[in-house]
Amino acid sequence: VYWKIEEASAADYRQALIEAARLLRQGETVAFPTETVYGLGADATSSAAVERIFKAKGRPSDNPLIVHIADEDQLSGLVQADALQDAHRALMRAFWPGPLTIVLPVQSGSISPLVTAGLTTVGVRVPDHPVALELLREAGVPVAAPSANSSGRPSPTLASHVRDDLDGRIGGIVDGGPAGVGVESTVVQLADGALYVLRPGGVTMEQLQRVLPLMRIHAAAHEEVRASETPRAPGMKYTHYAPQGYMHIVSGDDPAAIAAWLQQDIDAAKSRGETTGILTFSEHVPRYSADLVLACGSLAEPESIAQALYAALRTFDEHGIRYIAAEGCPETGIGQAVMNRLRKAAGHRLVQV
Ligand code: TXA
Ligand code: MG
Repeated sequence: VYWKIEEASAADYRQALIEAARLLRQGETVAFPTETVYGLGADATSSAAVERIFKAKGRPSDNPLIVHIADEDQLSGLVQADALQDAHRALMRAFWPGPLTIVLPVQSGSISPLVTAGLTTVGVRVPDHPVALELLREAGVPVAAPSANSSGRPSPTLASHVRDDLDGRIGGIVDGGPAGVGVESTVVQLADGALYVLRPGGVTMEQLQRVLPLMRIHAAAHEEVRASETPRAPGMKYTHYAPQGYMHIVSGDDPAAIAAWLQQDIDAAKSRGETTGILTFSEHVPRYSADLVLACGSLAEPESIAQALYAALRTFDEHGIRYIAAEGCPETGIGQAVMNRLRKAAGHRLVQV
């Protein structure tokens, strides 16, 4: 079922969400917009439903899912009652609803063990999107939802991305227009009196520090985790977001040097017969020539870079680009999450000039 509710009347909008919630309660999968990316939801209390998520995405079963709830009250029963610390409460007050996933000790028996991939913890968040919130309220169950892409592909920021990846494999899609932030939620866990950022995302390190100024905050998102290791956020070890072609990132302090190196690199690839692509920012587009030069937002507005990133990676595939050079962005604010995803997409190939 496909519901386009972006410009629907109030009655049609309401009707679509009632039907989508019913599908969820019946154990089906439903894709829906959040303020980060589109999620593929299923009833977290049902193993049969959660299994459908893993199957539709081709997701490895040892990568746990984030549970979405409509409000803080839904935490009771889901996580261990005595597990909530003051720091957790401060984070919820500051960032929920919003792009922050908090990893907490799971109340055993509350959700399917498939959601947590056998861990004793569960990642929970309250999304800041009217469609997601109404769907969650209507469904009345905690909803497990990874990003609604095929495993390994860039996350979907439009309903059309979900269709391209999962059409025919899921129960329904609620099309609520473009997602907001463009990169996924920040995943955090409290341990040993410190806050660990397991995955950088929509809530920045700077924002976390403002809420917990007295706490040590560690970036635990090690960039190059080998498949044999057991990383803190299990999802970190898999290939992610990668376009079909070869991609590497060019970074450095001198924009002119970056431009010179990058264009030379692309020219060399072109002369080898490659179809070439450049991922840059709107300010720098005039500097380059390649088969496809894409502006990934504007350096003047870092938020616009996050919003444009995944769609840009998909566009290279649509044009059959086999060799891509991407410009890096400053790693402050949302730029940290952008570079984290870009490095993964580029298989950690980074050239410093
Ligand atoms: O913004 C988002 O978080 C989106 C929207 C749909 O909410 N969802 C999302 O889910 O990005 P997914 O499955 O693509 O990424 C979930 C991440 C993975 O890196 C996973 O390993 C980590 O969260 N994670 C989930 N549960 C965890 C846990 N108990 N402990 C540590 N990491 C966990
Ligand atoms: Mg994902």
